Amino acid sequence: MTSTLSHGAPMFSEQDPKADALLAQMTLDEKIGQMVQVDSSALKDKADVQKYFLGSVLSGGSSDPDTGNTAQDWLKFVNSFQTYALQTRLKIPLLYGIDAVHGHNNIDGATIFPHHIGLGATHDPKLIERAERVTAEEVAGTGIRWAFAPCVTVPQNARWGRTYEGFSDQTALVTKLGAAATIGLQGRKLSDEPASVLACAKHFIGDGGTTNGIDQGNTVCDEATLRKLYLPPYRAAIQAGVGSVMVSYSSWNGVKMHGNKYLLTDVLKGELGFQGFLVSDWAAIDQISPDYKHDVEQSINAGLDMIMIPNGPDKSNNYVEFINDLKSLVADGKVPQARIDDAVRRILRIKIQLGIFESTATDPALTAAIGSPDHRAVARECVRESLVLLKNERNVLPLSKNIKHLVVAGAGADDLGMQCGGWTIDWQGRRGNVTHGGTTLLAAIRQTVAPETKVTFSPDASDLKNADAVIVVVGEPPYAEMKGDRSQLNLSADDLSLVAKAKAGGAPVVTVMFSGRPLELGAALTDSDAFVAAWLPGTEGQGMTDVLFGDFKFTGKSSRVWPH
Ligand code: GLC
Repeated sequence: MTSTLSHGAPMFSEQDPKADALLAQMTLDEKIGQMVQVDSSALKDKADVQKYFLGSVLSGGSSDPDTGNTAQDWLKFVNSFQTYALQTRLKIPLLYGIDAVHGHNNIDGATIFPHHIGLGATHDPKLIERAERVTAEEVAGTGIRWAFAPCVTVPQNARWGRTYEGFSDQTALVTKLGAAATIGLQGRKLSDEPASVLACAKHFIGDGGTTNGIDQGNTVCDEATLRKLYLPPYRAAIQAGVGSVMVSYSSWNGVKMHGNKYLLTDVLKGELGFQGFLVSDWAAIDQISPDYKHDVEQSINAGLDMIMIPNGPDKSNNYVEFINDLKSLVADGKVPQARIDDAVRRILRIKIQLGIFESTATDPALTAAIGSPDHRAVARECVRESLVLLKNERNVLPLSKNIKHLVVAGAGADDLGMQCGGWTIDWQGRRGNVTHGGTTLLAAIRQTVAPETKVTFSPDASDLKNADAVIVVVGEPPYAEMKGDRSQLNLSADDLSLVAKAKAGGAPVVTVMFSGRPLELGAALTDSDAFVAAWLPGTEGQGMTDVLFGDFKFTGKSSRVWPH
């Protein structure tokens, strides 16, 4: 067994009587099956869960139930896979995973929280623990017990499309907030919360340090720097009991992380004493080399315990191919049986800790509470604490609720999709009314001002007549991962002219920016009397009006250096 005892090893003891007893009964097919995680869209025949003894299914950012996108659709969908797992010889339950990275964001009507860059600006670990507890309850309400969160990246270059998935560019803040998020999702221990959801610290290691912020790129630095900048969040997450870690697509000094045995096994499992399991990223092992069987050998021997496979039998590098390749690698002695046993023991321990052997039933109260007012109130509090005031001249803010005529400009003021950003309903997110139950900034304004106040929505700022103040919304369209990589970080020309038009109207201008990172603001800053960085606040737009109209003070501080 390759995992070594180390001081400070949290949560699990080396030996786990139940896991070892189960392991002793398992055939090689059943063991390898546990190491396979297939995307729901690749499982055309759900019976393959039973046929191949699959240990996990995930739904990637855009893999949805065929019947619809409500919580009930998801609960039925998830249970349809679980049923097959429970019909296998040993009835080892399935562990279903999803990217609940700012709330249960794939599900219509779920509470969508600010993305990590906004939560980082709160500097409030207790609040983040509460936010992730709510997220865990909504995730568990759909029968899912594994969230691929928290992302504990430390993005060094804001040109990276995943900058907003990082709490901060400062290691210490990421370390503190990542541990809080882990405890929020899992509870103090995986078995002690009814809605405990397995957390997944990602992406190990150095995903945020690539040259020029290129997604899935190459992080070039010496080991001391790698350890100083990127290791502390994993040490803290492990001490908080994190049960899974996802490996990064990126490379360190030219070596793909998915093939790096030193960092995955010697450092993470040995030195740091990580006793949970390592999962690959989406088809990430395919990037190690042109030969898939070689990729399987390299990644499993490097220390990966579960492989995320989004391809079905209709494509190459699919889950049946993976299983056959790994079986023959074991038969040829190229992957030691002890490596397989260690991987499966780690996976079984987590399933035992989660309590899913006892029951995979979902408490209907959890399902009913998805998107509830209590949950949304927590997200609204996160929005309030995430807002960063960059400028406030002539004390334009707070605005009066009794203002006579307020003009709201910028299409983003009434665009829930832009307010939520990527990883919302779809992988890349999308503009428009993407989910039920949310409140746009414009709707929040209308609910906040006095009945006598006139609110004019003028997306292109053409109708500013008799305005007593103008709120202008600027920023970025939704994006995720590599689709968000940019070489320039300036506000668009359209946004600059929108703010200039508002200024020309003569009334005080309050600019609110929805963005996944700091941007170069140029004239938009000088043309605004007040400027608020709202990051990607999510569904609870009233968290913004709570502060813009003075019910709460600005307390947020940017968690990242602002480029000049
Ligand atoms: C994506 C991301 C990872 C996510 C996984 C499953 O490519 O890199 O963060 O958890 O695939 O959606």
